[in-house]
Parts: sequence; C-alpha cells; structure tokens
Amino acid sequence: TEPLRLGIAGLGTVGVGVVRILRKHGALLEKRAGRPVVITAVSARSHTKDRGVDLSAYAWEDDPVALARRDDVDVFVEVMGGHDGPAKDATEAALHAGKDVVTANKALLAIHGQELAELAETAGRVIRFEAAVAGGIPVVKALTEGLAGNEITRIMGVMNGSCNYILTRMEDAGLSYEAVFQEANQLGYLEADPQLDVGGIDAGHKLALLASIAFGTQVDFDAVELEGIGSITIDDIRQAADMGYKIKLLGVAQMTGRGLEQRMSPCLVPESSPLGQLQGGTNMVVLEGDAVSQIVLRGPGAGEGPTASAVMGDVMDVARGMRMSTFGQSATTLHKARAARAAVP
Ligand code: NDP
Ligand code: HSE
Repeated sequence: TEPLRLGIAGLGTVGVGVVRILRKHGALLEKRAGRPVVITAVSARSHTKDRGVDLSAYAWEDDPVALARRDDVDVFVEVMGGHDGPAKDATEAALHAGKDVVTANKALLAIHGQELAELAETAGRVIRFEAAVAGGIPVVKALTEGLAGNEITRIMGVMNGSCNYILTRMEDAGLSYEAVFQEANQLGYLEADPQLDVGGIDAGHKLALLASIAFGTQVDFDAVELEGIGSITIDDIRQAADMGYKIKLLGVAQMTGRGLEQRMSPCLVPESSPLGQLQGGTNMVVLEGDAVSQIVLRGPGAGEGPTASAVMGDVMDVARGMRMSTFGQSATTLHKARAARAAVP
C-alpha cells in the first residue's frame, strides 16, 4: 500500500512532538491507518538548531512554500504559526499543489478560514485543524462528527490554558496579576506576544472556529466581543471567592433571534461547578445540543504531547481517507451570521 507522506513545516514544540509520535508509534499507526505514515521532508528557520530528535532521514527545505509543493509530500503539516506570511503562503501553495493540510494554527484559520476552506474545496483537498482548538481535546471532531445529528444550542469554555494558569495561581497563592504574569512569562507559558493570551485574542480565535462549526456560519473573529484578564485584581478574586465564585476567562457562543453571540471575557462561575474546579493550564469545553443535552470535555489545551496528539489524529483521518469539510459542511454553505451583542452570561 502507498504510504502517506508528510511534509512538516515548523519544528518547534508541536512539530517536534509530531516527529516523536511518528518515530515512536510508526508500526501502530500503520496498522490503524492500513498504510504507512511517514515524514519525507521538514522545514524550519534554523537548519542547525539541535531539536532533540534525529531529523537526518528527512529532506530539508529552508522555504516552507517549497516544502508545500514537493512531489514527495501528500499532506502539508503547518505548525509554524502566524496568520499571515509563511504560514498562509505555504498553506495556499500546498492546496494549489493538490496537498491536504493539517494545521494547529488557530490565528490563521480564525482570520483566513473561509477563504482557505473555499480554496481547499476548489482544489478537492481538505484542511483539518483539531490541534488549533483546545490542544489535546478532540473538540472539533466532537462537533463535526459525534454531534453531527444535533442542532447545537450553545458552546462554552475555557480555551486558554495560560489565562487559566494565571487566574488559578492568583487564587491559590494570593499573588497579584502582575506578579503571576511575570512568573508565567518566565516559565515560558505565554505566547511570544503575551497579549494574545491575556488579551483573550487566542481564546477568541478558538471560540470563533468552534462557533463556525456549531452554527454553520462563516468564521467571524471580528465579531467576538473580547475582554482579557489584564484588569483582574486579587481583590476581584477574593470578592468572587467570598460569594462562592471563581473568575474564569470564559467563551460563550450561541445563536439567538438577534443573531450570533460570541463573547470571550472574564466571568463568574460557581466554585463547585466543573468550570469552577478547573485548575492550571487545563481547558474545558461545554457543548450543548438539542438531542445530546450537554457534554463536557476537559483536558490539556497545550504542550508538545497533547497538541501533537491532535495533529496526529487529523493526519490519521487523512490516512484513512476521511474527507470531512473544514468546518463540518461545505464552505459554500456557511452563511454570514448577523452579529449580536451577547447578554452577559
Ligand atoms: P514554536 O515557536 O515552538 O515553533 C515554531 C516553528 O516554526 C519553529 O521551528 C520555527 O523555526 C518555525 N518557523 C517559524 N517561522 C518560520 C518560517 N518563516 N519558515 C520556516 N519555519 C518557520 O511554535 P509551537 O510549536 O508552539 O506552535 C506551532 C503552532 O501550533 C502555532 O500555530 C501555535 O499557535 C499552535 N499551537 C501550539 C500549541 C502549543 O502548546 N505550543 C497548542 C496549540 C496550538 P525555528 O525553530 O528554526 O525558529
Ligand atoms: N497560549 C495558548 C494557551 C496555547 O495558553 O492556551 C495553546 O493554544
């Protein structure tokens, strides 16, 4: 049987994680997919950096666009990041060259998801992005596959582990926002631009992607009402605790008679609720559908293993011949939703 050949663009936390899974589980993956899944070529900025894995068996490309166009690549795995520049150029190049795409890049899809999904369909290709939302939690698959028979009524969740870490650390240690922010930054928990995390932007990207799948609407990140955690004080946290609540950066999306509400903001949640109990960098997504009622998914939202796990889940779908549309239905059938201001949840 023909192997499925991967070209991996980006050899940072996630890319190296994907390499490690493939090296460790090659035989298992072949059994499950019914064909070998192999890496043929890789790309990153530095060719000489020691990444802790042996890359000598793979062809090297300095330019991710060249990687995306290689004849020996069937699936372009984009784990570089950034919503414009090389990630977008190489993703487009891959689709134009007839490759499927697996990406972890929420920023890219939150901004350009509609045009990329349309391009994929025109090219007869798929883009899968499980790792982009809530890291290791298979929430995209839950919505597009497991809950496909439901009308989704609401999605909610804590989708940024760094913010949840900061808020729970403030609670547990009684430290100020500024002190915990510095600590989180030193520990490497925050994005290179920390405002993406603490400003709620990264979580807003994720919410916009889930809302598109849930409500059959074009991704509309600009319509997400965003408020970050930068102004939360230790006094706010203490007052919430006195009333039996925790403060969480919570995303809520629901379709109403007035249009689609999407909001990512600090919210009070009961201390005893599953969301209130969520500690550290963990994520939680609550999905509500008319048939299923409510399901709660909880797990690691970031990190090498969890994120690479989600990337590999998508790669395995492609290896097995699953051709799911990017947002769970044809991009041409996604409608532009009227944006409604959210009633505070
Ligand atoms: P890193 O910063 O660790 O790695 C990025 C990689 O991309 C590096 O290897 C870098 O090369 C390479 N790269 C960057 N720009 C270029 C370029 N112009 N040409 C070639 N290679 C380039 O990022 P992560 O692995 O953490 O994240 C990757 C993606 O996954 C992002 O979209 C991120 O949002 C997403 N993601 C990450 C999660 C996580 O926990 N880390 C969780 C969920 C999603 P070099 O190493 O040489 O500098
Ligand atoms: N900065 C993100 C977080 C990484 O903290 O959740 C995973 O998307």
